[in-house]
Amino acid sequence: MKKHEAELSSSMNLIGQCPVVIVTARHGDLDLGMPVAWIMGSDYDPPRIAMTLGKWNSTYGPLVESKECVINVASKENARLVFEFGSCHSNLETDKFAKFGVARTGASLVRAPLVDSCFASLECRVEKADEELGLFILKGVKFWLADDYSPERYHLLHSLGDVLYSDDGEKFAKKDLLK
Ligand SMILES: Cc1cc2nc3c(=O)[nH]c(=O)nc-3n(C[C@H](O)[C@H](O)[C@H](O)COP(=O)(O)O)c2cc1C
Repeated sequence: MKKHEAELSSSMNLIGQCPVVIVTARHGDLDLGMPVAWIMGSDYDPPRIAMTLGKWNSTYGPLVESKECVINVASKENARLVFEFGSCHSNLETDKFAKFGVARTGASLVRAPLVDSCFASLECRVEKADEELGLFILKGVKFWLADDYSPERYHLLHSLGDVLYSDDGEKFAKKDLLK
């Protein structure tokens, strides 16, 4: 998918909605990726995100060490990728991108891949990591958005728990809600 660099703070219009994302990182020559539902926007400019990862995930250690990742926003069209990447651990050996035939592109400011089929990707640096809580505070440094992006074209995926999902459904403008 063709993406262009977009206004950094505009990334929070998407990530502030707490969608399911694919977090990618790099360990030596190996690209890592895992779906994450527990993310929350915490600032617009610069964009900041709070994210919780379990220590048992292979991506956890390399993220603590490298302090770099990419937050790739998943749409409904990425559901298969979400389930495939979320169904196994790389154990720092398996290249999930090769295993599941998922195309990637190197990021420009951090060492971690952009997932080509995700319509939005935010390159991030770890500002703080609380290892007791598995909590990371990320700062966005470069934002990529699909050339054909519109909210109607790409529906965010939300995890409702217990293998239930929703897309972002019907949208309301404030003026319409106050009628
Ligand atoms: C929709 C979805 C959301 C998930 N959200 C989280 C999350 O917020 N935090 C987390 O630690 N794991 C989460 N997981 C689990 C990891 O993605 C899963 O354990 C993955 O296989 C880890 O890959 P890795 O071990 O190669 O890093 C989620 C999985 C799915 C399918």
